[in-house]
Amino acid sequence: MLVLGIESSCDETAVALVSGDRTIMAQRIASQDDAHRPFGGVVPELAARAHAERLTPMVAEVLAMGGVRLKDVDAIAATAGPGLIGGVMVGLVTGKALAWAAHRPLLAINHLEGHALSPRLVDPELEFPYLLLLVSGGHCQLLGVEGVGRYRRLATTIDDAIGEAFDKTAKILGLGFPGGPAVERAAVRGNARRFALPRPLLGSDEPHFSFAGLKSAVLRQWQALPDKNDVDRDDLAAAFQAAATDCLVDRTLRSVAAFPQATALVVAGGVASNQHIRGALAGLAAKRGLAFVAPPLSLCTDNAAMIAWAGCERFALGLIDSLDAPARPRWPLDPGAEAVRGAGVRA
Ligand code: KG4
Ligand code: ZN
Repeated sequence: MLVLGIESSCDETAVALVSGDRTIMAQRIASQDDAHRPFGGVVPELAARAHAERLTPMVAEVLAMGGVRLKDVDAIAATAGPGLIGGVMVGLVTGKALAWAAHRPLLAINHLEGHALSPRLVDPELEFPYLLLLVSGGHCQLLGVEGVGRYRRLATTIDDAIGEAFDKTAKILGLGFPGGPAVERAAVRGNARRFALPRPLLGSDEPHFSFAGLKSAVLRQWQALPDKNDVDRDDLAAAFQAAATDCLVDRTLRSVAAFPQATALVVAGGVASNQHIRGALAGLAAKRGLAFVAPPLSLCTDNAAMIAWAGCERFALGLIDSLDAPARPRWPLDPGAEAVRGAGVRA
């Protein structure tokens, strides 16, 4: 089985060719960091335009790299949401056109399902059910993964996603864009104990996350500093990363108890590339007797191999979509989950 995957829901344009035996035969990722850097964040209109310019030549390149023609591909998988709607439409329409032209089935993939299943692309031993911590720029959720297309949301954020908190902290500290990796680099140099920062909802009976108060505390501490030199910057980045990690560990522990059928703890999404967070979660899993699975860094941040792989998993189960599948800016993995206080705007 050979699936071509397309990802365009945020600011990475990506195409990949993945086979059912877990081989990434070819892939290309074009980052748009340079286009968005002057604005300090992703500009949706610029992102959609860049996807439209790059996607078609990248599909041709990836097919050539894999040594195949479009007719050799068994199905076309494209992200259909959630994400920035202009970009999602560009990728989904491209996928539909290829599927129609090659007479192959379309797989309209939920980007979050791409992250959720990505660890199975690299670890053939990883069986359902597992506990997934999904940490990205738009989401911070704990999910019980019961099977392909079967997700139970155990916790979500009541305000900011953790990646958003990393990005805003980077902006406050003047660390540049993209923010997450910049905060991590500064934190490695810093002393995490110099600043006392809050750990919102730590130990709370409710299962959810909150990061807005932590971000505001970073802003207050930064504004109160007289010189704001590089040491201040590194120390505050380290304090932020330590506080955010404590929150993740505490909330994950609570969901381990709520989903005892899990045999593994899995972390996915852009923030899962953070080494400090990976280390803390590996420690937690070891203490609870759970296997710990984290995809390699290149599969944590947005990529098309995870979309092609989710396509392989769905195609194997006969879960194909029609050519009028909609592009969905919001698309929760667990549509039955209760709305939580303050979090109504998130998928
Ligand atoms: O999954 P992703 O690539 O895109 C979304 O679906 O959101 O995640 C992007 C997020 C951004 O907020 C970025 O700052 C964060 O992941 N991120 C990191 C690191 N690398 C990326 N956060 C902390 N440490 C990192 N090393
Ligand atoms: Zn993502």
